[in-house]
Amino acid sequence: MSASQELEKAATSYALEAVRLDKQGAKGMAVTMYQKAIQTLLNLAQLYPNYGLNKVYIQRAMAYQERIRMLQGVSSPNEPQQENAEDRPFEPATQSSDTNKDKKGSFEELVLREKPNVKWGQVVGLEQAKKAIKQAIVYPVQRPDLFPLGWPRGILLFGPPGCGKTLLAAAVATEIDASFLSVDAASIMSKWLGEAERNVAELFTTTRKIANDGRPAIVFIDELDSLIGTHSNEVGGEVRVRNQFLKEMDGIIDKGKKIHVYVIGATNKPWDLDWPFVRRFQKRILVPLPDYNARLQMYKLFTTQVTLSPDMDLYGLSRMSEGFSGSDIRDSVQSVHLKVIGEFFESGKAKDKLAQPRSMSMNDFKEMLETRKPSVTLDMVASYNKWFEAFKAL
Ligand SMILES: Nc1ncnc2c1ncn2[C@@H]1O[C@H](COP(=O)(O)OP(=O)(O)OP(=O)(O)O)[C@@H](O)[C@H]1O
Ligand SMILES: [Mg+2]
Repeated sequence: MSASQELEKAATSYALEAVRLDKQGAKGMAVTMYQKAIQTLLNLAQLYPNYGLNKVYIQRAMAYQERIRMLQGVSSPNEPQQENAEDRPFEPATQSSDTNKDKKGSFEELVLREKPNVKWGQVVGLEQAKKAIKQAIVYPVQRPDLFPLGWPRGILLFGPPGCGKTLLAAAVATEIDASFLSVDAASIMSKWLGEAERNVAELFTTTRKIANDGRPAIVFIDELDSLIGTHSNEVGGEVRVRNQFLKEMDGIIDKGKKIHVYVIGATNKPWDLDWPFVRRFQKRILVPLPDYNARLQMYKLFTTQVTLSPDMDLYGLSRMSEGFSGSDIRDSVQSVHLKVIGEFFESGKAKDKLAQPRSMSMNDFKEMLETRKPSVTLDMVASYNKWFEAFKAL
């Protein structure tokens, strides 16, 4: 297979996976996968600028980006994102349309077992969070004999949207040779309906079985706050699910001295969790907005594969984007890039096999900054810090 075919195949499989997760309401993982699809399509367009299908790739990348924006825009737990996804099913060209047969997902369908293949190095900054995770998971897995007093099994990642919680959990799974079971609490509650309690039990039974066979197992529960959210359709249902979850957590904390089962929970609404819940996550780690240095590193990372004009000042740009989350930064670079490539196709120059799109200039970015506001407000940042001060456990 040629390199371009390989990339095309990779983009297709990322996109299919993203759509599958999206349909299940697994918002966080879906966004991660859409992004991988976009990145792969852009690499393809970059490596083979004269390829006939490039226009289609760019259009598709834009459609995925639009979908990400929608998923990220609807963040209130009172309006489950999956309703949105179902009202406006998102069908990329690669997807056949035999979907939506059964709204109630089965256990197997809602649990993602494949590792998302995110490398540790792709997670910029977050040194404190990385360190805490290494101490809590990576080292005990490598040398359990050095931890006679035991080690934490529950790790809570919390912080503003788009700063790397889901990404970090994905990277941990790649880092240690562990089985990785990922579920999205919002989809547990909405799709498992009356079965949520039983399925939570099954999730932990499956995980313990894996760990008993000698392999570490990580359960990742994204959007954890939904488990005890106030919006369950089933009266009282969320109470039972919550209690089941607490019981399961106790199970792994107590007898799990030797086996490696870890639960990583992520939330951007830590204040919705009550104390019995919080207490079972012995490590509680804030995943904050990127500071100047982290923003600079992100701009560098997200522009490695594009051409920047000589006037481009990434230092200045990082200074100007105070308050941007990691996903704001990635989206903004992508949107400038798509704009430049879009112009190139519209000008008709792309037909000339030797022509290249122009490089991205500081002006393009300044224009973008005028239209794009940080998705996290100062008030929100203050709330996270306050919660962290009250409940931190590193
Ligand atoms: N620290 C980071 N390093 C590199 N990329 C990042 C970082 N933070 C965010 N990003 C980019 O933004 C995307 C979204 O981040 P992610 O899904 O991890 O956010 P989150 O904290 O889980 O948000 P939410 O609370 O909305 O679920 C990532 O896939 C990545 O492209
Ligand atoms: Mg997330």
